[in-house]
Amino acid sequence: MGRAKGVVGWVGFAVWLLVASFVQRVSSHGKQPLARIAIHETVSALDARVNMKASPSILGARGENVEWVLLEYSSPNPTNDDWIGVFSPANFSASTCLPEHRYVIKPRLCSAPIKYQYANYSSPAYVSTGKGSLKFQLINQRSNFSFAFFSGGIDKPKLVAVSNTIAFASPKAPVYPRLAQGKEWNEMTLTWTSGYGIAEAEPFVEWGHEGGEKMRSPAGTLTFDRRSMCAAPARTVGWRDPGFIHTSFLKELWPNSVCSLGINENLCQSRSEFERLKEIFLGYPLGHKLFNSSYIWSHKYRFRASPFPGQNSLQRVVIFGDMGKDEVDGSNEYFNFQRGSLNTTYQLLKDLDIIDMVFHIGDISYAIGYLSQWDQFTAQVEPIASRVPYMIASGNHERDWPGTGSFYGNLDSGGECGVLAETMFYVPAENRAKFWYSTDYGMFRFCIADTEHDWREGTDQYKFIEHCLASVDQQKQPWLIFLAHRVLGYSSDKLYAEKGSFGEPMGWESLQKLWQKYKVDIAIYGHVHNYERTCPIYQNICTNEEKSYYKGALNGTIHIVAGGGGATLSEFTSLQTKWSSFKDYDYGFVKLTALDQSNLLFECKKSSKWKSLRLFQN
Ligand SMILES: *[C@@H]1O[C@H](CO)[C@@H](O)[C@H](O)[C@H]1NC(C)=O
Ligand SMILES: *[C@@H]1O[C@H](CO)[C@@H](O)[C@H](O)[C@H]1NC(C)=O
Ligand SMILES: *[C@@H]1O[C@H](CO)[C@@H](O)[C@H](O)[C@H]1NC(C)=O
Ligand SMILES: *[C@@H]1O[C@H](CO)[C@@H](O)[C@H](O)[C@H]1NC(C)=O
Ligand SMILES: *[C@@H]1O[C@H](CO)[C@@H](O)[C@H](O)[C@H]1NC(C)=O
Ligand SMILES: *[C@@H]1O[C@H](CO)[C@@H](O)[C@H](O)[C@H]1NC(C)=O
Repeated sequence: MGRAKGVVGWVGFAVWLLVASFVQRVSSHGKQPLARIAIHETVSALDARVNMKASPSILGARGENVEWVLLEYSSPNPTNDDWIGVFSPANFSASTCLPEHRYVIKPRLCSAPIKYQYANYSSPAYVSTGKGSLKFQLINQRSNFSFAFFSGGIDKPKLVAVSNTIAFASPKAPVYPRLAQGKEWNEMTLTWTSGYGIAEAEPFVEWGHEGGEKMRSPAGTLTFDRRSMCAAPARTVGWRDPGFIHTSFLKELWPNSVCSLGINENLCQSRSEFERLKEIFLGYPLGHKLFNSSYIWSHKYRFRASPFPGQNSLQRVVIFGDMGKDEVDGSNEYFNFQRGSLNTTYQLLKDLDIIDMVFHIGDISYAIGYLSQWDQFTAQVEPIASRVPYMIASGNHERDWPGTGSFYGNLDSGGECGVLAETMFYVPAENRAKFWYSTDYGMFRFCIADTEHDWREGTDQYKFIEHCLASVDQQKQPWLIFLAHRVLGYSSDKLYAEKGSFGEPMGWESLQKLWQKYKVDIAIYGHVHNYERTCPIYQNICTNEEKSYYKGALNGTIHIVAGGGGATLSEFTSLQTKWSSFKDYDYGFVKLTALDQSNLLFECKKSSKWKSLRLFQN
């Protein structure tokens, strides 16, 4: 790092948790293939005196993919144990199955509900009046919905009544587009979900400058079946048909802000703001061409092309891990511990005009084998991911499963073993089952490691990391950032402290040689659900006394834990670690702003309130 690099103004806060691993055990639940029997025939507790009515019965009449439904119900024997499950497909099986995880005591039905809520939730008088109502938000996810009323609590559910069916007008519609950087800097990829397979329609993206010529880029289509899952619950009660996932490659894009680059300056100056914006943004709908030549279109969206490597313009990147999803209607689902997730999503949205790219570095949806939750997650992040590249890394909750090649043999993926993450999101990796990749964004180079595969010296991943760090021209791209899910650097998290390792064993021991040699200033991790920033450190020793404004060579790497995207916070150890510069037990995320080739602004933002203390700005 020859030139003066000012790193980092802190909006000081930061760090997050490790609900790390659900230590899970699969109990022997035998070979129950989901009982494919209509609910009305299987359950004897049906009570005709319990009434349920859901309205409206047709959703999305004007193309909406997210809608609210009012459910009204009454029961002659109301109790606080009554609850309501949201099911899709509507004809679910209500037979009970044993719980598969020791730590999860939730509805034990053979068809998992998408979510559920207690009957008394918004009707405090329910137990005395027997009358109640709930508002649920539903998203378009390819099948019809029904609501089922249970007594007996979530441990011993007894089906009492089923509502009328609710349907989206266009259940197979193309939905939830997510942008990602392609393998080349001038390629953007678009991935989305629909109910249209290739036997029925051709998927494509129609894109171009607003008012300009439109291009059509075809898309590839992926899907998978139950047998692609490694185990339960993904293969059993958590299974839900994923529909079709399409990815299109939009190639040869111009770098963003052509006018701001001084190209054709005269031309640019003569244009109105409106015309300039038209030039900067590319608009698109997703499309499916049916074989009878009629078209199905999605909503319209827009995005900007990425800057070319080394481009000197303002570049703003947000990074966090472990966000998960949550339900705006307050309802619960199986892995119900990501209650900070919506705040983070809302803060990102509020600021989306000053964010160019997002990295969600592992522990993405926390579906953990309940596949419906991936739809919910992609719906939640749609307003972000449809506008700026949404880049992911693989975490333990996407990948880990014993005997499937993951570095850790625990049960954290709920049997998904990486299949959902690698299908639902595109990353420009050589092999999408191995999640390491590099991506350039103007003055940034990001090297993204996959902590769920071995990274130690001698492995393919180690070679990749070295190549990624070594192959960048740091004169043009000085902001070389290392990203990974688990903490390969340093963390004062309680669980890591108890192990005595203050990070993932064999993390910095294996990689610090590379970080030092290639002058990696900043490494950012998730996994631990809090925020922490270290001093620049090498071989366990702080190499620089400065705490907030860095100039010149750091002689070490600043390690940042930014795993407070939304999952339940992780406690810090009470031990005072000498390398810790800043800790924050709260939800939030990190923002890096490359101002130019010698100034980088680092900010950590809380999800609950948007406050940016700009300590430094050059
Ligand atoms: C629900 O209906 C679908 C489509 O008709 C069918 O394939 C499936 O087996 C049914 N499921 C159950 C549990 O009855
Ligand atoms: C509603 O039911 C739940 C679950 O049984 C219970 O924890 C809660 O206290 C009840 N709420 C009211 C207002 O009674
Ligand atoms: C979904 O519901 C609609 C409207 O009630 C109905 O026409 C359609 O057949 C249902 N689809 C399935 C697969 O049951
Ligand atoms: C093509 O097929 C779709 C779906 O079956 C139908 O809704 C549409 O009306 C058909 N269009 C034409 C032009 O026949
Ligand atoms: C970093 O290392 C160089 C070369 O060893 C040394 O000259 C410089 O003073 C060090 N910088 C700091 C901040 O310690
Ligand atoms: C979300 O933010 C609000 C303030 O905007 C705060 O009151 C609430 O506690 C936050 N939720 C979580 C789970 O942190």
